[in-house]
Amino acid sequence: MKVVVIGGTGHIGTFLIPRLIEGGHQVTVITRRQRTPYLPNTAWQDVQWVTLDRVQLDKDKAFGQAVSELSPQVVIDLICFTPESARQMVSALQDRLEHYLHCGTIWVHGFRVEVPSEEGHLRRPFGEYGIQKAASEAYLLKEVDQHRFPVTVLHPGHIVGPGWDPINPVGNLNREVFSRLANGDEVLIPNLGLETLHHVHADDVAAGFMQVLTNREQAIGESFHILSEKAMTWRGYAEAVAEWYGQKANLRFVSWEEFRHSVSEKDASVSWDHLVHSSSGSIEKARRLLNYHPQYSSLEAIQQSLSWSTVP
Ligand SMILES: NC(=O)c1ccc[n+]([C@@H]2O[C@H](COP(=O)([O-])OP(=O)(O)OC[C@H]3O[C@@H](n4cnc5c(N)ncnc54)[C@H](OP(=O)(O)O)[C@@H]3O)[C@@H](O)[C@H]2O)c1
Repeated sequence: MKVVVIGGTGHIGTFLIPRLIEGGHQVTVITRRQRTPYLPNTAWQDVQWVTLDRVQLDKDKAFGQAVSELSPQVVIDLICFTPESARQMVSALQDRLEHYLHCGTIWVHGFRVEVPSEEGHLRRPFGEYGIQKAASEAYLLKEVDQHRFPVTVLHPGHIVGPGWDPINPVGNLNREVFSRLANGDEVLIPNLGLETLHHVHADDVAAGFMQVLTNREQAIGESFHILSEKAMTWRGYAEAVAEWYGQKANLRFVSWEEFRHSVSEKDASVSWDHLVHSSSGSIEKARRLLNYHPQYSSLEAIQQSLSWSTVP
């Protein structure tokens, strides 16, 4: 198949592009050519590169047309963040495409009533990112019904892998938290540490996209969570990390206010986003319809990421 991947050199693309090439697909990757994949792989030699700036072209309403000119059979869109961007893809590719795979996020759920979240649950997103992603998903799935545009939406959790830092047990990207746990130093955790994070290994996300391609009929018109088997509590995650380093976690549970004042403004803001979303999703639907079986548990995925980085 002729597959165009938009944004293919990041977390997901690093694992997805080699899988597509190895699967015999003819792959074109669109990026600005500013980043390189996290891991080397000879498969990258077979990629056709197209340098485009989507943000710029979206403004000129020219991006959809530029993708259409590549005559793809399948488009995997990893960097669509607004319904306006999605609309451009639909109008340029309608009646020309066999499958459009759109990357969403588990944060489309927003405030949940039941856990774990299921794909069919009512969306109550909050924050610009979640709201725009949920609106893009709603728009695209309506296009399947109204204009038979062949869409599948995939919702990853917090993507982890070797080459970048995972969301840590206090919901932000500060590496020092891992060092403190490794050294047995005190770590402050807001509330009782019972909020949840739902990670997924980037290679499992890539596998999810591949499963959507091979199960096209069942996948069109559907959304799928692409996650590890189970979410983790902040406390459980912190304890497991300390244990890897031969320590007993030295945790102190504090109010959100105390926690917030103990970290930088940026870390507090990232932690807050993860705290209020407190992601936990079911992968039952992906398992049933796509035969999706993640290789890595949340902890195994994080461990891979930590073994890449040096925690002092
Ligand atoms: N990261 C997470 O934990 C997470 C969780 C849930 C969902 N998601 C979803 O995953 C998707 C992102 O995937 P990712 O994490 O693999 O991405 P990523 O690591 O941020 O990589 C972004 C890719 O897009 C390219 N790119 C960025 N801006 C561009 C532009 N203006 N024009 C053309 N190419 C551009 C980048 O290459 P250049 O910089 O060279 O252009 C790179 O290839 C998003 O839809 C996001 O909502 C991510």
